[in-house]
Amino acid sequence: MKFKSVKEIGDLYLSYFQSKAHSIVPSSSLIPAGDPTLLFTTAGMVQFKPLFTGAVELPYTRAASIQKCLRTTDLEVVGKTERHCTFFEMLGNFSFGDYFKKEAIEFALDFSLQKLEIPKDKIWVTIYLDDDEAKEIWMKAGIPEERIVRLGKKDNFWGPAGDSGACGPCSELYLDRGPEKGGPDCGTSGTCKPGCDCDRYLEYWNLVFNQFNQTVTGELLPLKQTGIDTGSGLERVAMLLQEVDSVYDTDELKHIIQTIETLSGKKYDESTKVNFRVITDHSRSVFFSIGDRIYPDRTGRGYVIRRLIRRASLFARKLGIKEPFLYKIVETLTQIYSSRYPELKERASEIQNVIRKEEELFLNTLEVGLEELEELLVRMKSQGQTDVKGVDSFRLYSTFGFPKEMTRELVLERGFSFNDSEFDAELEKDRDLSRASWKGKKNTYLTGISDSSALKTEFTGYTRLTGNSKVLYLFKDGKQVNSLKAGEEGVVLLDQTPFYAEGGGQLGDWGYLKNAQFQFQVQDTQKENESHLHLGLVLRGEIRVGDVLETEVDAGRRQRLAGHHSGTHLLNGALRRILGTHVAQKGSVVSPDYLRFDFSHPSALTEEEIRKIEKDVNEAVAKSVAVETEVLPIEKAKTSGALSMFDEKYGNLVRVVTMGDSSKEFCGGTHVSNTKEIAYFALIKEGSPGAGNRRIEAICGDPVIDYFQSVFQSLAEKIQDYNLGAKEVYGDLKQHGILDKIPAPEEIQSIFETKKTLAVESLREIKKALESSLAEKSAALHREKKKKEALSFQLNPELVEDIFNSSLKVKDITIAKRVFDGVDAKSLKDLADSLKAREPKILCLFASKEGDSSTLVFMCNKVLNDAGVHCGNLLKTSLELLGGKGGGRPDMAQGGGKNPEQIDSALESAVNEIKNKFGG
Ligand code: SER
Repeated sequence: MKFKSVKEIGDLYLSYFQSKAHSIVPSSSLIPAGDPTLLFTTAGMVQFKPLFTGAVELPYTRAASIQKCLRTTDLEVVGKTERHCTFFEMLGNFSFGDYFKKEAIEFALDFSLQKLEIPKDKIWVTIYLDDDEAKEIWMKAGIPEERIVRLGKKDNFWGPAGDSGACGPCSELYLDRGPEKGGPDCGTSGTCKPGCDCDRYLEYWNLVFNQFNQTVTGELLPLKQTGIDTGSGLERVAMLLQEVDSVYDTDELKHIIQTIETLSGKKYDESTKVNFRVITDHSRSVFFSIGDRIYPDRTGRGYVIRRLIRRASLFARKLGIKEPFLYKIVETLTQIYSSRYPELKERASEIQNVIRKEEELFLNTLEVGLEELEELLVRMKSQGQTDVKGVDSFRLYSTFGFPKEMTRELVLERGFSFNDSEFDAELEKDRDLSRASWKGKKNTYLTGISDSSALKTEFTGYTRLTGNSKVLYLFKDGKQVNSLKAGEEGVVLLDQTPFYAEGGGQLGDWGYLKNAQFQFQVQDTQKENESHLHLGLVLRGEIRVGDVLETEVDAGRRQRLAGHHSGTHLLNGALRRILGTHVAQKGSVVSPDYLRFDFSHPSALTEEEIRKIEKDVNEAVAKSVAVETEVLPIEKAKTSGALSMFDEKYGNLVRVVTMGDSSKEFCGGTHVSNTKEIAYFALIKEGSPGAGNRRIEAICGDPVIDYFQSVFQSLAEKIQDYNLGAKEVYGDLKQHGILDKIPAPEEIQSIFETKKTLAVESLREIKKALESSLAEKSAALHREKKKKEALSFQLNPELVEDIFNSSLKVKDITIAKRVFDGVDAKSLKDLADSLKAREPKILCLFASKEGDSSTLVFMCNKVLNDAGVHCGNLLKTSLELLGGKGGGRPDMAQGGGKNPEQIDSALESAVNEIKNKFGG
């Protein structure tokens, strides 16, 4: 076969389909837009889901793409096999109501023969069990019957991606790599053909004939228009054309492996290949994910990225690499991929930083965690135990940051078993206790120390985040001790420290205390009297009273805390400027991720006030004023006009923090040095904590970008849901236009880059305009729906017939009784008219419920009035049950009430009256 590079294959593919009138569509983000059921983009068709179901207007009917994909279902075998990857690129051509099976098959075969130059006799195909149509097309195209294999649903029915959407039977192309690749029994048994587990026939292209729209309940509805979704793994095609046995030996991936060899000084061979492959694969996944702004985190997508980085760190460590390493590969990845994904070039240094920080974070604990696991397994073995308990595996997670799946892999590798449900139960318990456990312990450490009242930690952290300190006291389980060893949790008290202790709403710092003998991870800093308590865990060595050590505050976290703290001051100023000087601060929480501010104000804030406050803060940020601090005698501070908290106790000297004209407050917290470092401010929640106060939650800095990305994503989801619903009800009535105006994640990013602090306001405007046009369109649709319903009531002989047939008789009176959902009174009357026309002696008792209200319409002809039926009187009794009042004429009465749950009894009471009066 003729060697073709990954790049050549991609280029050939796009140019071929462009020549066949396909629009070339760039890869979408790894975060699926508008599909909350999918964690990542897992196939080329994901970005086209609404086009397949007809939920949006079609911008084109043929498309082709190279899509970035992430699939993590087999994460634990990645590296251990020849072909598994978490990240891969997928070639795909798509048709939306345009061509179908015939062209899809012809294109695939033509491209395989003419462009990939695969010999025809090496191509086999599979079809879905009863898809004779596909078989015939393949045969006409020149694939002989003996090379066409029927396979079942597992192999040849694809989709949907996520829990609903387009799906259908498929047909796959396979390459016969020759009998020598077959398993030991293949060849002799005669059963070896596509579908066999051996390596002889490899699938390289899947053609899905989309015919169904699977609903969330699993129902298969016919798609309004058939479609084509094909997918071909780029790495896999390269593997076949380059005639290598593993995707990791194809040109681009090999280049990454060589980079790892150079950077690590290790050789890629049989003994190291798993490690190299894990690092190669995970580095790509992490590179592209962070490129799409998925950051390592504790939950969701971010957790997957964290797992990947940590798993790669583990495999790097097994190679003997104990330093952050993965981030170094970013340069090579950028070189390789920026021709296909140019945006990655600009993102490279950020990606590198994020990976390096995450690696550093983990490597600090990896070693100790592995030692602890080792000790545990040795102990268990000596006691003849094999099941690793949830408490133990959870400790590796909570204390050393080992992802659950990583511990499972390590434990299984050693022949022990892992208890999933016990781990989950521990996680649940921990969530409840979380920080409360530290808090419960504070304020009691110093009681046993004689000179405790004289103790005062010198705080050096306003200007510096590192320094040297001396250990004065150590505590373990609430008691004073002389030393703490690796793996032990405890509290450290120093003579001086740059670690800010929780206070004034600002959370305590995290970081490290260390010297050549030990490393202590500070997981929280609290204050008792004037002493800073460093709460945490010894990662390495032993820490003793009297030791001299280096302090190192987690600078990134501190910076985010500072941004949110300064943002809180600007918010306080803005509230007083916009709502009035009656606003007094009642409490606040300043965390790295958000700020919360409680204040006195009698009423909920209006939308306009919220926007004004947000704007005011962003303007103060844009002014780029220096944040100044000074320590003043309290009286002087008060006369300077600085704000203070009414019920807070202050000493004789107070610290005053000033931000130009925007804010001046008493404050002991840590701040940015210039308001521009806050970057952006968004007010995300307004409510009340009770007691006549209001509560605001807001975010500053990069979280604001993420926030808007998710705001617009959920708007897109709402519109898509709406589209789907609307289409079902109204056929061709479309609700489009709005979706296209929703800014994509990249656009949001660029709005922030170009508009800076004005971005928040303009994104709010875009959002508002989109929401109001959605509301307008929905109202129009609602009116349309009502009109149609009314029409269907008038002109619906089946309904009339059905009601008539299920009516009951009381002597010669026919009673037609029915409860409807959400039907207006006018339609009920139309329906009654039709029934009255059909049967003169009919009494119609109709009701409709909508939300918590109910409507009743009772009607009959005059002939029944003459016989003694009075609709107005009947209605009166029925309405009492519904908590409503009303009445009406003998031949027609209408009224409304509440209690829709009583509606059946209300109609029943009218029937009973007739029975009583006329005899049953
Ligand atoms: N969606 C199909 C797949 O992923 C074809 O693109 O295999």
